[in-house]
Amino acid sequence: MVNPSYISAVKNPIFRTISQASKNLNLESYVIGGFVRDFLLKRGEAKDIDIVTVGSGIELAQEVAKLLPGKPKVSIFKTYGTAMLKSGGIELEFVGARKESYSEESRNPAVENGTLDDDQNRRDFTINALAISLSDDTYGQLLDPFNGLADLDKKIIRTPLDPDVTYSDDPLRMLRAIRFATQLDFKIDNASLDSITRNAKRIKIISKERVVDELHKILLADVPSKGFTLLHKTGLLKFILPELVALQGIDEKEGQTHKDNFWHTLEVVDNISKATDDLWLRWAALLHDIGKAPTKKFDKKQGWTFHTHEFVGAKMVYKLFKRLKMPLNDKMKFVQKMVLMSSRPIVLASDVTDSAVRRLIFDAGEHVDDLMTLCEADITTKNPKKFKRYHANFKLVREKIVEVEERDQVRNFQPPVSGEEIMKTFNLKPSREIGIIKDAIKEAILEGEIPNDYEAAKEFMLKKGKEIGLKP
Ligand code: CTP
Repeated sequence: MVNPSYISAVKNPIFRTISQASKNLNLESYVIGGFVRDFLLKRGEAKDIDIVTVGSGIELAQEVAKLLPGKPKVSIFKTYGTAMLKSGGIELEFVGARKESYSEESRNPAVENGTLDDDQNRRDFTINALAISLSDDTYGQLLDPFNGLADLDKKIIRTPLDPDVTYSDDPLRMLRAIRFATQLDFKIDNASLDSITRNAKRIKIISKERVVDELHKILLADVPSKGFTLLHKTGLLKFILPELVALQGIDEKEGQTHKDNFWHTLEVVDNISKATDDLWLRWAALLHDIGKAPTKKFDKKQGWTFHTHEFVGAKMVYKLFKRLKMPLNDKMKFVQKMVLMSSRPIVLASDVTDSAVRRLIFDAGEHVDDLMTLCEADITTKNPKKFKRYHANFKLVREKIVEVEERDQVRNFQPPVSGEEIMKTFNLKPSREIGIIKDAIKEAILEGEIPNDYEAAKEFMLKKGKEIGLKP
């Protein structure tokens, strides 16, 4: 059979350069993987291009660099036998075709040279094993030994080999299967799903960084719940985010139930994904209720309660980030803050007073809009009347935020009278009284007793000082 031609996929002149370099070294070379897949899916041209050659990937990279304008630097990864170079905004990765086997405990490959067939065999999915020839005589021809093209058409994620072999070679591929299914809205082949379910616990040998990378990609998809549902059903989630699994289930006591907080959370994540592409706000949505499992209680009077779940949840965010080796920086603090404050606007929505809105802006600071976005996403009631009412209330809160902020400017609150001025006025050394007066001024502003300006605050300071027995 003559292989179909996809010459339009390799029209970028860089491919001709690679072809020329391959000819110079008398090597076959192919573009393979994500670039070919995304071209065929019309997802636009990827900027990361994987080149496989039957020979040395490092030598080919060096030859390509010689032929390129400006002779870009080649980075060599000797252990893996790969090389990388950048040219005109494109990142090229070169690898020699290999027969690869991974040891059971680690994913450090024992590399053995192989043919193109061998190399395609050891790739993760049929849709990622598609290769286009860059050799002179077969330039642009598609090599598709596993019917990857048909799988692209049928929207199926399938492994080239027995899935138990493919996933055991690199257990991260179990997450990749779910990530691609979520990103591309594909279905995972049944044999693959069974294999993932059987092998789920092997995900434990994969580095946290690689796992988190896939979680980020699932969270950034259009409908992340698809991925989290698959993670849950295959049993992977309990090894990665057990805090979420703990939210699943509905308890009943004395005829009273609570909502299933796991499925609710997934709805919230999908909702927020329609409103924002911000990865960390999506993380906040995913984790906003994690404190509910350890704080769940039943009592006869109140029924099911989750008192202090926001506080407990915020503390859990730190532990979870630490365990997953995620950054413990301002991103983590942002997620904590969102979790901690996640119930604040809901309380407010039933009674929108100026002072409550001022306090909300003061506490949420620059993140008040993100907090509102989270709370709107949190509305998952199936009662259309309530749904409308809650949204209308939040709209009111948003309007009030703009109005109060314009007038009082408490978003990045700076005390209008400084500690230094308080010390000078009352002739004080650093002492408790200064804190008392500063707090009283802040409270008076938030309560709306005085405006947020210098004159009013100074007058209030003198009054308050007198009250506690100070003399100016
Ligand atoms: N690959 C694999 N097993 C892995 C990772 C990657 O077989 N665990 C192969 C696949 O053929 C894949 C190629 O290496 O297409 C490149 O991997 P990568 O750059 O991670 O993924 P892409 O498929 O390019 O997709 P994306 O950029 O969306 O991650």
